Amino acid sequence: MKKIIIAIDGHSACGKSTLAKALAKELKYIYIDSGAMYRAVTLFALNNGWISEDGKEVNTEELIKAIDQINISFNYNSTSGKSDTFMNGINIEDEIRTMRVAKAVSAVAKIKFVREKLVEFQQTLGKNKGIIMDGRDIGTVVYPDAELKIWVTANMDVRTARRYKELIEMADKITVDEVRNNIQSRDFEDSNRKESPLKRAEDAQDIDNSYLSKDETLNRAIQMAQEVIATQ
Ligand code: DC
Repeated sequence: MKKIIIAIDGHSACGKSTLAKALAKELKYIYIDSGAMYRAVTLFALNNGWISEDGKEVNTEELIKAIDQINISFNYNSTSGKSDTFMNGINIEDEIRTMRVAKAVSAVAKIKFVREKLVEFQQTLGKNKGIIMDGRDIGTVVYPDAELKIWVTANMDVRTARRYKELIEMADKITVDEVRNNIQSRDFEDSNRKESPLKRAEDAQDIDNSYLSKDETLNRAIQMAQEVIATQ
């Protein structure tokens, strides 16, 4: 059967990655988390002191000079059953999920040069199709010709509760208000930046999973994928 590209976009913490991972498993497709790439570059900038902890000051020049030193890869972790993110051979999966990185990532994601580099890498990964990528600009910029585009939404209370639970499980010391503020400010920054802002592709299909279980969400996406695959 002919393989397709599936682009999944939406705001922060609305369940894109959970859906994308499950759908990839079901279809036996490769799953790529593009947000992890922006988080990796942010961690690199934080560790080098090129961005302030609140993301307000960025030494864009130094970051641009060093960008080719950042090698990002994904490796399957047989213990967790998930794919971990590596930067220059080091597993950074847990570190990039912290609030520290979440606070600064939107500032890095709006730098044109960073986006160009990462989009180029993302497009290479999809050249053989059979890939599901989630992010903010996958259906609009990375793969404007993706055969299936899914726009995922969920209401703010649901998103906050889900992300808070994830962060607490990782022992990140945070409050519900901090999580909500971070999601709201990232939504704002990501939607209002000049370079490839977050927006729904006109030809996307919608899934609002506020009141759907993981399985119900997955089933809707499987149906969408099967319908498209059948026409290939
Ligand atoms: O999906 P995530 O929350 O891990 O993404 C982290 C940040 O990276 C998000 O706030 C915006 C940015 N991002 C982006 O600008 N473009 C993408 N394709 C993916 C993520």
